[in-house]
Amino acid sequence: MPPCSPPARVLVTGANGYIGLWVIRFLLQRGFSVRGIVRNVEKGHTLERLLHSKESQTAQSFEFAIVDDLTKERIFDEVVRDVDVVIHTASPVRLNPDTWRDTVDPAVKGTQGILKSILKHGYRIKRVVITSSAGAVLVDTEDKVRWDLTTICPSMVFGPLPDDPASPAALTFSMNEFWTYVMGPEQGAEVYLNTVNNFVDVRDLAEVHVRALQVPEAGGERIIASSGPYTMQDWHEILGVDLRGMYETCKDIIEDFRQRGWIN
Ligand SMILES: NC(=O)c1ccc[n+]([C@@H]2O[C@H](COP(=O)([O-])OP(=O)(O)OC[C@H]3O[C@@H](n4cnc5c(N)ncnc54)[C@H](OP(=O)(O)O)[C@@H]3O)[C@@H](O)[C@H]2O)c1
Repeated sequence: MPPCSPPARVLVTGANGYIGLWVIRFLLQRGFSVRGIVRNVEKGHTLERLLHSKESQTAQSFEFAIVDDLTKERIFDEVVRDVDVVIHTASPVRLNPDTWRDTVDPAVKGTQGILKSILKHGYRIKRVVITSSAGAVLVDTEDKVRWDLTTICPSMVFGPLPDDPASPAALTFSMNEFWTYVMGPEQGAEVYLNTVNNFVDVRDLAEVHVRALQVPEAGGERIIASSGPYTMQDWHEILGVDLRGMYETCKDIIEDFRQRGWIN
């Protein structure tokens, strides 16, 4: 039996992030109801307005809740109580041990915190999906675990934007890299040309998240999400996502930027 099906309620942290917002849009399109976690009310209202414009048919199935500090003890206790599954994407994207308090701390404590709250209060929760290497963090517990865990490990994530940032300056980590090294001031820079990496299209990654909620065999798996040729693609077989190629992703990003008037 699938761990959850529409119209189950999904808790998504990092709701206004690049990946989190695509995941929410896909979930709403599939008939799930969504509780998105943001840091403050203003971000919540902005997100609500955006979803009403982008997903007008299903935006009424979205609500937001506030978690202002990932590192606070028991901060997730209330928001996990009445949801069926959890997708945890919130994290500073570039972890830096030199600025431990601002980067590593929220990533590690945020993951530990939400898992602890789910153990104590997430009575309905059947599956937890974590987007991040922070998923490697374990929680010491003697409590009975009622759910299973799927960790999704994406490579670099590129693709069209899920929202309407005012300018390229507002782009977050990976699309900021794309803008800077492919389209913008550092285009053609050696650092970019010489970097070997793998990528995944953000829409495929969102699809992976949605299927990770629904495919029973994804439970307990660590799934590498990458369309690059040098990576394991076990997740592809488990989840059956048909990955977009680099050409299509790049073409769609350029078209997206053009429609925003950022390039000619
Ligand atoms: N993008 C990639 O290429 C990539 C690749 C591999 C893994 N990942 C992982 O995917 C996840 C999402 O990445 P993304 O690209 O969507 O990043 P993003 O656009 O920067 O979004 C990050 C989200 O996390 C929230 N967040 C960050 N720091 C926080 C803190 N200290 N307290 C509370 N909330 C915080 C942000 O909220 P605010 O908007 O309020 O800051 C935002 O909602 C991260 O775990 C990242 O490590 C991303």
